[in-house]
Amino acid sequence: MEKKIGVIQGDASSPEIVAQALRVLHVIEEKFDHHFTYENIDMGGAAIDKYGEPLPDHELKKCLACDSVLLGAIGGPKWEGLPGELRPEKGLLKLRSGMGLYANNRPATLWPQLSDASPLKDSIVKNGIDFVVVRELIGGVYFGEHKTYVEDGERKALDTMPYSEHEIERIGRIGFEMARKRKKKLCLVDKANVLDTSRLWRAVMQTLKNEYPDVEYSQMFVDNCAMQICKDPSQFDVIVTENMFGDILSDEASMITGSIGMIPSSSLGEGTRGLYEPIHGSAPDIAGQDKINPIACILSAAMMLRYSFDMEQEAEAIERAVNTVLDQGYRTADIFSEGCVEIGCSEMGSRICEAIQTSK
Ligand code: IPM
Ligand code: MG
Repeated sequence: MEKKIGVIQGDASSPEIVAQALRVLHVIEEKFDHHFTYENIDMGGAAIDKYGEPLPDHELKKCLACDSVLLGAIGGPKWEGLPGELRPEKGLLKLRSGMGLYANNRPATLWPQLSDASPLKDSIVKNGIDFVVVRELIGGVYFGEHKTYVEDGERKALDTMPYSEHEIERIGRIGFEMARKRKKKLCLVDKANVLDTSRLWRAVMQTLKNEYPDVEYSQMFVDNCAMQICKDPSQFDVIVTENMFGDILSDEASMITGSIGMIPSSSLGEGTRGLYEPIHGSAPDIAGQDKINPIACILSAAMMLRYSFDMEQEAEAIERAVNTVLDQGYRTADIFSEGCVEIGCSEMGSRICEAIQTSK
């Protein structure tokens, strides 16, 4: 199959992980007889340095002309002093919104080999961790009005959090469909005891749930959910939530599985063109040291094959290879535990490529 993949190298440590994901994709091309072409796209700090803005329209246009886009992570101290509109993060938000990617899927899965790396007690971890945060990605407070102003002699700021019914319904549907393919449980997470937007989420979801009588539906306040995720994560299957709650809960969810360096994500909208990225940041503190864990980015490439290109076997080949390398005891620093062998980012990439090549 021929596919055109947009590649955003990203900032700080990010090019190191993207390089490994691209090596893995090359191996997949050879093994399964596909032909991928790659188009480099500038977004984030790199685009600010080159063009003075985090995502120029011409770079967004390039993304829209690809079959899918792979991203590492963006940002770093170099660009932190810039005004809000010019920060690298703004490029990411423009990209998500410009590509219409409203459904962000962030799996929290415990790899059994890494159960020692989870900060939770064995008695909790032994029940397993296998849930997905379905995060609304292009609405809410991230895209509401932002303003800093002076009134009555002091500085004030406001951020608004708008949601409309159709934005809730379309992400709700994704959540219900996903639950159907999993353990058939969906939990809406909100702050309906305080926020109007949350009450609208509840109203829309309660209507929608009638179309999915086979899915067990529940609702939970976000503060309680944050607590339940560390108390008993095995109770969750699909969590559906608004943009900012999803941002926060998905970091928590990743940490209990051992390392944020292991968690990929997909962002999709109406078609099959998606954006695939690890959920972690660009790790400026270890940039250039070959230390960063490339697995989340490699697994993001696997998700791209599965969800955008319908290449299930190929995606599984990558996931199996990651499993094999973990079984062999190889670990990057973030997931290292006693008795394992610590390796760098590029060696992790090489070992995963080798495991794909040598498997049947
Ligand atoms: C994420 C990140 C982004 C977000 C930042 C970089 C804007 O934290 O993808 O989770 O908040 O969505
Ligand atoms: Mg985040």
